[in-house]
Amino acid sequence: MYKSLKAYKFFINAVLVFLLFSCKNSDSSTSENIVNKVFSRAEKQFEILAASSPEGMSPRTLNPDGSVHYIKPKDWCSGFFPGSLWYLYDYKQNDSWKNKATLFTEPLENIKDYNKTHDLGFMMYCSYGNAYRSTQNESYKDIIIQSAETLSKRFSPQVQAIKSWDWGKDWQYPVIIDNMMNLELLFEATELSGNSKYADIAVAHANTTMKSHFRDDYSSYHLVDFDSITGKIIKQRTFQGYSDSSAWARGQAWGLYGYTLCYRYTKDAKYLLQANKIAQYYMNHPSIPEDKIPYWDFHSPDIPNAPRDVSAAAVVASALLELQQYVQEDVSKEYMQYAEGILESLASDVYLAKEGEIQGFLLKHSTGFFNKNSEIDVPLNYADYYALEALLRYHKIKG
Ligand code: GLY
Repeated sequence: MYKSLKAYKFFINAVLVFLLFSCKNSDSSTSENIVNKVFSRAEKQFEILAASSPEGMSPRTLNPDGSVHYIKPKDWCSGFFPGSLWYLYDYKQNDSWKNKATLFTEPLENIKDYNKTHDLGFMMYCSYGNAYRSTQNESYKDIIIQSAETLSKRFSPQVQAIKSWDWGKDWQYPVIIDNMMNLELLFEATELSGNSKYADIAVAHANTTMKSHFRDDYSSYHLVDFDSITGKIIKQRTFQGYSDSSAWARGQAWGLYGYTLCYRYTKDAKYLLQANKIAQYYMNHPSIPEDKIPYWDFHSPDIPNAPRDVSAAAVVASALLELQQYVQEDVSKEYMQYAEGILESLASDVYLAKEGEIQGFLLKHSTGFFNKNSEIDVPLNYADYYALEALLRYHKIKG
């Protein structure tokens, strides 16, 4: 009896170990399939885009006539295509991608002194930040620090925030939620230079944004206009969203990603709380469709016929895959599942370009600027960039 009970226990344990092992294996092979599929498609697609790009320019989106819209280094989207090439190099480890990534990164060097935009983080961190991480080339490090120095000049001690735009007659000191994304450049410059000034500015900006841009339900206004002398809020409003009181999808995504990265660098619990609250608002919003690719604005009156925004979904997937590391197990699981759902949609035929389609971009169905009737239901280079980043994060987690 004893002998057979022991044998029985042994048998049950062996079955459990087998089941556990095969579940884990099939889980990781499913994830590897998605990652492999999208990166292999990216290789084919980006060969086309890289070959067609005029010297010193990079692809941003498609024009209404279907041709590629190429941009110069001063465009806010100039860092994304080089950044995508660095991600491709990270995954494939093939020197030809390293050479292409370098070729598309280096024309941006002079942007390190370009002080007319708050978008230096997007432009210089997605390009040179990834270039430095990948190559450890010291000259890239200096370019990153100089870019942060330039961006830091746009910080106002009165407002305690970085000014977004120098143009526009409808506002005095505009700060948009997107600007949270530029803080990564500042935090990283402090790590690289040892000069705490950049991180101090990032923290001040994040704190001001937390107080001024968020509603009680943790959705965010797109734009807050400040009095440049007193630092007081003049008006909370939108520029790219449906209305002042609506939730513009990409704005919610920028906020989620922004506070997640603030927590990465500071380990300040209030940023973690903020990121978690934004995530809960976003994931539980009733307007989010089954496939987790949001409409361009959560309050668009055209839902369910409103255009989607793949770029917002890609940013959210990447942010959640980072945020899931910082939270307790049940919440972590929830974030992982949500991000996985997004990635599965992105890898499906609905969103992923077929080989040779859409001139070499990777993902279809993003919305750039709906109110201007500009870039609606098109590929966008930042959708491709954040999707590849999310997939690399997913690949590392699933190992
Ligand atoms: N302003 C950057 C964006 O369209 O998200």
